Amino acid sequence: MLRLGIIGTNWITKQFIDAAQGTGRFELTAVYSRHLDKAQEFATNYDDEVALFDDLTAFLNSSYFDVVYIASPNSLHAAQTLAAVNAGKHVIVEKPMVANVADFAALDAAMAAHPDVFVFEAARHVYEENFHRVRDFIADHQVTGATLVYMKYSSRYDAYLAGREPNVFTTKFAGGAMMDLGVYLVYAAIGWFGVPQHATYQPTMLQSGVDGTGVMHFSYGDFDVNMICGKTTQSYLPSEIYFGKDTLRLDAPESITQMDFTTPDGTQQLAGPQEDNPMAPEAAFFGDTIEGGDHEACARQLQLSRQVHQVITNMRVAAGIKFPGDER
Ligand SMILES: NC(=O)c1ccc[n+]([C@@H]2O[C@H](COP(=O)([O-])OP(=O)(O)OC[C@H]3O[C@@H](n4cnc5c(N)ncnc54)[C@H](OP(=O)(O)O)[C@@H]3O)[C@@H](O)[C@H]2O)c1
Repeated sequence: MLRLGIIGTNWITKQFIDAAQGTGRFELTAVYSRHLDKAQEFATNYDDEVALFDDLTAFLNSSYFDVVYIASPNSLHAAQTLAAVNAGKHVIVEKPMVANVADFAALDAAMAAHPDVFVFEAARHVYEENFHRVRDFIADHQVTGATLVYMKYSSRYDAYLAGREPNVFTTKFAGGAMMDLGVYLVYAAIGWFGVPQHATYQPTMLQSGVDGTGVMHFSYGDFDVNMICGKTTQSYLPSEIYFGKDTLRLDAPESITQMDFTTPDGTQQLAGPQEDNPMAPEAAFFGDTIEGGDHEACARQLQLSRQVHQVITNMRVAAGIKFPGDER
């Protein structure tokens, strides 16, 4: 059984713990929060005996857990991952794993010094069966283009409009539409079509310095992929992948439940069933990979993360979106 520690006590951590416990491979044994009473309150949701911490260094260097799930604000991910690897802990870190691809260099050095440690970015959708079905379908068909959309009005945008500073709408915490939701689309595009020859981002900026919405364009030479992400507007558009006169239509690239393949002869439904908890497939992969000692599988996923963040950092910097850590 893998002993799990967590950083970040919002709803997403509960959803991940449910998924992890559901695999039968993880038990919750340690909780870190900046406030001990919050850690205590969080732990009351679970029957397990849980060690509580409000000191991050003491938490990471404790012997109460083997794997840490990190769901803190984006800009903290890379440094917390680095500290955890240096403490010899396996890491499952929420997307986006880094705010700037340059942070991967320090992580690579730490992983080289701790070759037994596993590190994963929790890009949950790439582990889903329907994501793999799309990838396999594309491998057998000639793509002529795609339009991918993930634009969801954020519950925190109202707080932003009211003059407050939710983390996800600040540059301080590496927020904005592309870092929060666009990352799912970039994962889909690179996972399905490969690294683009050229990538651009046209953001609509908020006064706080982050992008509220934006349009990404990836060119692949003989076809293009256009993507829209946003946190200040609600979209109900599906996504589409084109094969000349035939079209594969997805209800949502970050959580596919419908895959309609339409040709001039009619429409076929190609999606398989989806797990109730969208984090279940990734939790199963992480548990199997760590317990099976499969470093190659981990390295393959990390290489995809590296490609995703290289493209995102390039697009972000070219679009003039600056984060405090960029000068490092
Ligand atoms: N995979 C998914 O489906 C999914 C869904 C939602 C979010 N996420 C990812 O999960 C991460 C957390 O998102 P969120 O919306 O929960 O973020 P958040 O509410 O801003 O912060 C998450 C946690 O970090 C701690 N925290 C908050 N502000 C902090 C600060 N100023 N300094 C240090 N720690 C702070 C808090 O825990 P304590 O108060 O206990 O320290 C909080 O519970 C993000 O990276 C996001 O991209 C993923």
